[in-house]
This record gives sequence, C-alpha cells and structure tokens, in this order.
Amino acid sequence: MFVGEFGARLRTREIEEDIPTRVNAAVDFEGVRGGVTEAISEFLAATPYEGPRLVMDLDLVEQAYRRLHASLDGAPLYYAVKANPNPQILRRLNQLGARFDVASRGEIARCLELGFDPGRLSFGNTVKRPSDIAFAYANGVDGFAFDAEEELVKIAEAAPGARVFCRLLVEECDADWPLSRKFGCAPEMAERLFLRAVELGLKPIGLSFHVGSQMRDPSGWRKVLTQAAALWRRVSLRGVRLEMLNIGGGFPARYSEGAPPMAFYGARILDLISEAFNGHPPKIIAEPGRGLVGDAGVIEAEVLLVSRKSDDDPKRWVYLDIGKFGGLAETTDEAIRYRILTDRDGGAVGPCVLAGPTCDSVDVMYERDPVMLPLGLKAGDRVLIPATGAYTTTYASVWFNGIEPMQEFTVG
Ligand SMILES: Cc1ncc(COP(=O)(O)O)c(C=O)c1O
Repeated sequence: MFVGEFGARLRTREIEEDIPTRVNAAVDFEGVRGGVTEAISEFLAATPYEGPRLVMDLDLVEQAYRRLHASLDGAPLYYAVKANPNPQILRRLNQLGARFDVASRGEIARCLELGFDPGRLSFGNTVKRPSDIAFAYANGVDGFAFDAEEELVKIAEAAPGARVFCRLLVEECDADWPLSRKFGCAPEMAERLFLRAVELGLKPIGLSFHVGSQMRDPSGWRKVLTQAAALWRRVSLRGVRLEMLNIGGGFPARYSEGAPPMAFYGARILDLISEAFNGHPPKIIAEPGRGLVGDAGVIEAEVLLVSRKSDDDPKRWVYLDIGKFGGLAETTDEAIRYRILTDRDGGAVGPCVLAGPTCDSVDVMYERDPVMLPLGLKAGDRVLIPATGAYTTTYASVWFNGIEPMQEFTVG
C-alpha cells in the first residue's frame, strides 16, 4: 500500500518516531512495534483467559489526544464516542478537556451519566429521531448536524433556535474505510439549506465533513477544504456568518500499512486550511475517533483450529475465537488489515486465511490477500491483534451463534 503524498511506502523510522516508548520489544512485527505496552502485557499475563478480550491502555489514549491536540494548534477535539464508548476512556478524555461527538441518544445519555457538560457535546449524526433531538436539546446539547431539508425541519421543531452545522458530501474518497455517499450534501444544496435554516429560526454555525476513516494521506483533506472555503465565502455574501469549520475524523491508526506521525497530520492540514482560506483560516474543530483510541488497544484471541482445505493446499485456514461478528467487522473487503502477533514469531511463515468462530461463511478474513503466520501455529495458541481500540467492541453482533461479546478492560 502506498501513501499518495509520499509516493513511497512509509519508512519504519517515520512511524517509530511517534510510537510511545513503553512498548514491549518482544512483540515487534515487521519492524513496526505493536503498541503492546508493559501495562497491557502485565494485565494479560495476570488475568486468566476466558475468551477474546480487548485491553485498552488509557495512557496511550492520553498521548494520542495530546499529540493531535498540539498538532492542530489546540483546536477543540470532539472525540467520536462511537469509536469506543468505554466509560473509562470517556472519563480520561473529559479530564483532558476533550469534547464529544455523539451519534445517538444512548451516547448522549452515557456522557450525561458521567457528568460531562452537555455544552461540550455535538450531535453529529445527520440522521436523527425527533425525540432524540428533543432529548438532546432539553439536556443542554446545542449543536446539531444536518445535510437535508427534512432534517432541518425536524431540528427546528424539536430544538427551536438550536445551533446547526451542515455536513458536506465528500465524493471521492481514498480512505481505507470510506464514509462517502451516505452522508453530506453538495455545496450548492448546502448553500440553500443554510438560508433555509435561518428561515426556520435556527442558528447556522458552521460546516463539517468527513474525509473517510483511516485516511492515511493528509492531502485527502485538500479537495473538500477547497470546496468548503468557496462555500463559506458564498454563504457569507448571502449574510450567513459561519464561525467554525469541523474537519471531521479520519486520523489513522497503525495497521499493517503504518501511517505518518500524528504531528505531520496537524501541520499539513493546517497548511491546507490556510491555503484554501487564502491565509485567513476560520476557527476549526475536529472529531477524531480511531486516531485517539485505535492504537491504544490490543485484542487477545485464541486459535481454535489450523487446517488446510486439501493436502496440497498451500494456504492454511486459521480459525480464531473472534471474527467479523465478534469485533473484527472492519476486515470486511480487507479494508482494515490488522497486524497479528504470536508467540512463535521470528521463524518460518506461510500464507493463512483467517476465519471467525461462527457458522457463517461470511466470517472469513483476508482470503484475497492472506496473512503470513508462523508455520508452527496451532490450536490453543494465543494471538495479539494490536491497534484494535477503535470500532471493535461495539461494532459486533449480539450473541450470534450464542457467542458472548468480547470483554474490554482498561489499564493505565
Ligand atoms: C460524524 C463523525 N465524526 C467523526 C467520526 C470519527 O471518524 P474517525 O474514527 O475516522 O476519526 C465518525 C466516524 O464514523 C463520524 O461519523
């Protein structure tokens, strides 16, 4: 995989510069160290294995938050709660001064139960139930996304006078996990909707977009920033004074392909914003999810079976006790390629297709491009899957095949 702006595979050194020092060297993998901190290793060693488990190191979440916050010159960061809604993570981020991008009533309720200031929550889902809008507004949330006239009407009825921001459509998307098509509207429509929002008594405050999740190339922000700046100028000429540009999420975690250091993202994106806005950048906010929690978590799972489909099949099938339905949904279309660490690393390896434990043939991972795993791997071995802190615990089925959900623990 190549990162466009660099035109070459990222060098390990660039990646290593940004990784924490508290990393267990025993789990090096292809030159990219795993993010399996001592605290995580100690927890795994001390706690009996009862099934797949995700261990999150809160100190790594804190480091990621501090790095991104600094690299975006202190711009407010609204953590996308959907990435990992674990209360301990939310608490740590709240202590650090984070704000929260919430997608549903459930996420709002969780933040409120934790005692967070509702004024620091932003309802970023463009598709909301009227009763959830009313719940949010009654509880002090005052920032609602929209990308359609019908949504504006809902907001005006359920949250009269609320502050609203328009999500722009991002048509071309090079992100590993695209979020294009489904969300946002074209700039011309956005312009009309801003005027409609004013007519409806709402307060248009800004523009948002999402370049797609796991956007490894910072120049992926360029095109939409140019569109956003042009739209910003047009609506301002029509009397709508916007005050914030929400540059969304998209900041990457370190999977097999690696990613540039976080500091690089901030600097590059700030440059692109300045360029698009002719040297007069607006106030920005960001909504990172994966970039804050992805690298902070490690899943431990167990090998249930290693087999071949025929005696001369060069590929082995490695069946794990976790698969697409139990937390590894983002392996769909091989979009996210996790690193797999085993105690047998360092010896001879061969190609393996991974599969989950359910009786569903969709529950297969990396069949198109198999992963190389030690030849000695066998049932009963444990594997570590680093950088699994985002979109795993909740992005899973409910008791499919009678399988209990993955457990989550925090350390640090
Ligand atoms: C509105 C919104 N903001 C932020 C995010 C977080 O994105 P990421 O995890 O790529 O940072 C998402 C992810 O789906 C989202 O839908």
